[in-house]
Amino acid sequence: MLVSPSLLAANFANLEKEMEWFNRSDSDFLHLDVMDGVFVPNISFGFPVLKHVARLCQKPLDVHLMIVQPEKFINEVKALGAYYMNVHYEACTHLHRVVSQIREAGMHPAVTLNPATPVCVLEDIIEDIDMVLLMSVNPGFGGQKFIEHTYDKIRQLRELIKRHGCDVKIEVDGGVSQKNVEALSAAGADVLVAGSAVFGAEDPIEVVRQLKK
Ligand code: DX5
Ligand code: ZN
Repeated sequence: MLVSPSLLAANFANLEKEMEWFNRSDSDFLHLDVMDGVFVPNISFGFPVLKHVARLCQKPLDVHLMIVQPEKFINEVKALGAYYMNVHYEACTHLHRVVSQIREAGMHPAVTLNPATPVCVLEDIIEDIDMVLLMSVNPGFGGQKFIEHTYDKIRQLRELIKRHGCDVKIEVDGGVSQKNVEALSAAGADVLVAGSAVFGAEDPIEVVRQLKK
């Protein structure tokens, strides 16, 4: 299992300290949640903050844009050196164009689905992307309860990927902890995002280790 801790639950008054343990952990990615107060009812952090985080981070970045018109920020995300650029299906009228632009910029395109968006909308884009991020809470806040229907969506998505014969990772975001990691793995998840379960823990390095097992 790959693990992508979400910075949203970090202590923003001491990011240097947070990145110090993070770099020593077995984490595979750092998940960065950008919110605009329009696509989601909350605002998190923007590129001036992320520029400094990217400098401190020694792991690949998994950037999750919860914003309208994410295509406007492809250059900014690229400048961070991001590995994955996640855009919401619900935020892109011309999703194929956005995905192509992300690929042309040298990043790995990923498409995110809100809990109420069915997996079947990916039918005509799945072969062009490297990852699907399934939201297992309504985006905008950390610390929410995991939506159980996500297990069915993971299985449906696994099936769709298999049918297309492509190599696409399945990432799950929201309410992930040591409690549901086994079930998520059994359903077919490849990458787990965890905010409060990791950054809120007394021993975050150990929690990352448990999630990876
Ligand atoms: C929610 C964000 C998540 C969030 C997860 O909108 O996309 O990445 O940080 O937080 P937890 O793991 O606390 O549910
Ligand atoms: Zn996220």
